[in-house]
Amino acid sequence: MTTGTLYGIGVGPGSADLLTVKAVNLLAKVTTVCLIKSGAEKNSVALGIARPYIREDAEILAVAAPMTHDEKILAEAWQTAAKIIVGKLQAGSDVAFITLGDCMLFSTYTYIMKQVKIQFPAVKIENVPGIAAYSYLASYLATALAEGGENLAIIPAVSELAKLPDILQNFPNVILMKVAGKYGDILNILDEKGLRQNTVYVSKLGHPDQFITFDLDSMRKAERHYLSMLWVKQGGFI
Ligand SMILES: C[S@@+](CC[C@H](N)C(=O)[O-])C[C@H]1O[C@@H](n2cnc3c(N)ncnc32)[C@H](O)[C@@H]1O
Repeated sequence: MTTGTLYGIGVGPGSADLLTVKAVNLLAKVTTVCLIKSGAEKNSVALGIARPYIREDAEILAVAAPMTHDEKILAEAWQTAAKIIVGKLQAGSDVAFITLGDCMLFSTYTYIMKQVKIQFPAVKIENVPGIAAYSYLASYLATALAEGGENLAIIPAVSELAKLPDILQNFPNVILMKVAGKYGDILNILDEKGLRQNTVYVSKLGHPDQFITFDLDSMRKAERHYLSMLWVKQGGFI
């Protein structure tokens, strides 16, 4: 029997017109769609974005993502998810795994994909990149992410605040993801470095309730969504 193909599909940052043509064409074909369902979100954001393109008869497989940093628990969860996917592939079904933004950038999908490769070495995988949230942000603000010889740092989460001053010192362009939790501390460091005026806060880019502000103080006490980022640009935004 022919085995199925695993398609990792980045669905972009939020808007249904920011998927690639390739992603849309694949979703029109595939009858098993897999996604991560974290405890934090009631509905899958990726599913909300891709829904218009998913077949009505498609089976939706939600894979649980444990809310923990415990590597053993996480490894077990990815193995379990991979086993379900491998079962589908070996039974001949194609599986589309949808992820936010780009599927190869800080995505749970890549952990599961690695497990799939281990459990089923002959697996056929085709990944379809999506527009990363930071990439959309630069286009939206009509400001280059990086130019000429400039470096760009993409920091997944500021886990060690002590390292942030050095990063800000060495990179003229810094994208800080997952800033909701440590926002106040990050702002204090930006102030110490004199970079507050050169920073933008954004949340839910591409979604109907997208929010962008240069008034960073206004967000200190406000509710900050998980899908929020800071972009620090030493050259400023013009
Ligand atoms: C686990 S990472 C996923 C990154 C994603 N794969 C990408 O390519 O954009 C999640 C973080 O990305 C950022 N992010 C993703 N989508 C976003 C959006 N639509 N608006 C603002 N930030 C977003 C936030 O910082 C969020 O905490």
